Amino acid sequence: MAALLWLLILSAFHAVALAQQRQFNITLGSSLTPTTNSSWFSPSRRFAFGFYEQNNGYAVGISIVASMLDTGNFVIYNSDHSIIWQSFDNPTNTLLPGQHISAGQELFSSASESDDSLGIFRLKMQDDGNLVQYPVNTADSAPNAYYATGTGGVGNNVSLHLDDDGLLYLLNSTKSLKNLTQGGNPRERTIIYMMKIDADGIFRVYSHSLNQQNSSAIWSSTIDGCDPKGICGLNGFCTNIDDQAKCLCLPGFDFVMLGNWSAGCERNFTAETCRLKESTSKYYAMRTVENTVWEDSTYVVLGGTTKEDCEQACLQDCNCEAALFKDRECRKQKLPLTYGRRNLDNSNLVLVKVGTNFIPNEGVPYQTIEETKGKKLRIDILIAGITLAVFALLVLGISGFLIHRNHVWTCRKIQESRSVLDDI
Ligand SMILES: *[C@@H]1O[C@H](CO)[C@@H](O)[C@H](O)[C@H]1NC(C)=O
Ligand SMILES: *[C@@H]1O[C@H](CO)[C@@H](O)[C@H](O)[C@H]1NC(C)=O
Ligand SMILES: *[C@@H]1O[C@H](CO)[C@@H](O)[C@H](O)[C@H]1NC(C)=O
Ligand SMILES: *[C@@H]1O[C@H](CO)[C@@H](O)[C@H](O)[C@H]1NC(C)=O
Ligand SMILES: *[C@@H]1O[C@H](CO)[C@@H](O)[C@H](O)[C@H]1NC(C)=O
Ligand SMILES: *[C@@H]1O[C@H](CO)[C@@H](O)[C@H](O)[C@H]1NC(C)=O
Ligand SMILES: *[C@@H]1O[C@H](CO)[C@@H](O)[C@H](O)[C@H]1NC(C)=O
Ligand SMILES: *[C@@H]1O[C@H](CO)[C@@H](O)[C@H](O)[C@H]1NC(C)=O
Repeated sequence: MAALLWLLILSAFHAVALAQQRQFNITLGSSLTPTTNSSWFSPSRRFAFGFYEQNNGYAVGISIVASMLDTGNFVIYNSDHSIIWQSFDNPTNTLLPGQHISAGQELFSSASESDDSLGIFRLKMQDDGNLVQYPVNTADSAPNAYYATGTGGVGNNVSLHLDDDGLLYLLNSTKSLKNLTQGGNPRERTIIYMMKIDADGIFRVYSHSLNQQNSSAIWSSTIDGCDPKGICGLNGFCTNIDDQAKCLCLPGFDFVMLGNWSAGCERNFTAETCRLKESTSKYYAMRTVENTVWEDSTYVVLGGTTKEDCEQACLQDCNCEAALFKDRECRKQKLPLTYGRRNLDNSNLVLVKVGTNFIPNEGVPYQTIEETKGKKLRIDILIAGITLAVFALLVLGISGFLIHRNHVWTCRKIQESRSVLDDI
């Protein structure tokens, strides 16, 4: 709800005068609908609270006394005229002049410039005083961080502020602690400064012209589009081509979702399995990617090796899916590899185990081995059967011969006795 309200407020910057604390009070029982009366404007009509089109329309009803301040803050009062809710306490991706992020709060990027749903990056004003950027759904720990003001440990009540001259700064209770931007920009009636964490994970201070209805960035947290961790998803790595961040997949890997880098990359072959007794390493090969750095997921380190030794060590190990090789050190890795990016100053090699052409897509199918065993068994039975049959025929033949011989012998005996009798 809070996020939604804030998004609604940002929806329109409708011109004119710079404001003091003028406010437009909306009385109890007023309502907005997406079709008629879709917005409430601030006195200068600079800000509007209301509906704007995005995928589906929203309906918002206000049931308490509410007001729209000329700073862009949407405030809800109770009957005692004290503030019970204000949009400035619930920022999503943008900070307006006069607004601040207090300790423990964070801003989130949008999914894209045209889609305000939750994106994949966040900017957190930590309780320790450090202002840090992380991917969403990750722990607040150093390996996930990709931007930090380095002000950890200075106090537990540090907040991030934006002034109406574009000055972005950290405040320790009431003491100015660190200026992120210079500020001092002309305070013109037709210009408003705002800070926004963009869908690409970089946060920028914009100068927005109310007359022209256009914006331009006057400061950014980094100029390297590959800095935001997680921009390429798992098993992908970021590289700058013509100053534009671009994601590539490791060799043998394809994008999970075309056009969606953060979904990462997956193998285009079936992984090696350790279930088989015989080595299947002959169905795999190692591919090399130069000058990339990755989050370490080492499970074994081999020292004093060559690149070839490292490749062989990974090939011979059914658990090994990749290896990092640098300074004669071979670090065996399990997938997925994360936070990959090209760094031409780093001689690190990533050696990736890939399926070769000898086998179809499915890799070394377990079933095939079983089938082979089955065939062998049937051949064995056949051989045994034939042997038995031949043996049986032989026995039959021999016994036939013996019976015949015995018969002939008996006949002769009878004839002999007859002739003896005849002789008598
Ligand atoms: C629009 O809002 C104004 C002020 O709240 C109210 O007087 C008017 O009746 C509303 N019009 C419609 C169509 O709801
Ligand atoms: C709006 O309400 C606030 C608080 O109740 C009050 O101080 C202010 O004078 C009101 N403004 C107008 C223009 O009615
Ligand atoms: C920040 O404020 C705290 C208490 O308010 C104080 O102890 C600390 O020294 C301050 N730090 C700096 C760098 O001024
Ligand atoms: C924390 O800082 C805010 C200003 O950013 C100040 O108003 C408040 O009094 C401070 N709280 C404490 C406990 O120092
Ligand atoms: C930041 O800039 C403001 C205005 O120029 C200045 O008053 C303040 O001392 C600066 N703060 C620091 C920590 O340099
Ligand atoms: C807006 O556009 C005009 C004309 O193209 C340009 O002169 C001006 O600098 C732009 N302002 C901003 C804030 O981008
Ligand atoms: C898998 O990827 C490798 C390298 O990217 C490629 O050479 C191979 O043709 C691909 N195989 C399939 C089945 O797509
Ligand atoms: C892109 O992939 C991410 C991660 O799988 C997912 O959260 C997001 O919804 C996807 N975006 C689109 C536009 O499909």
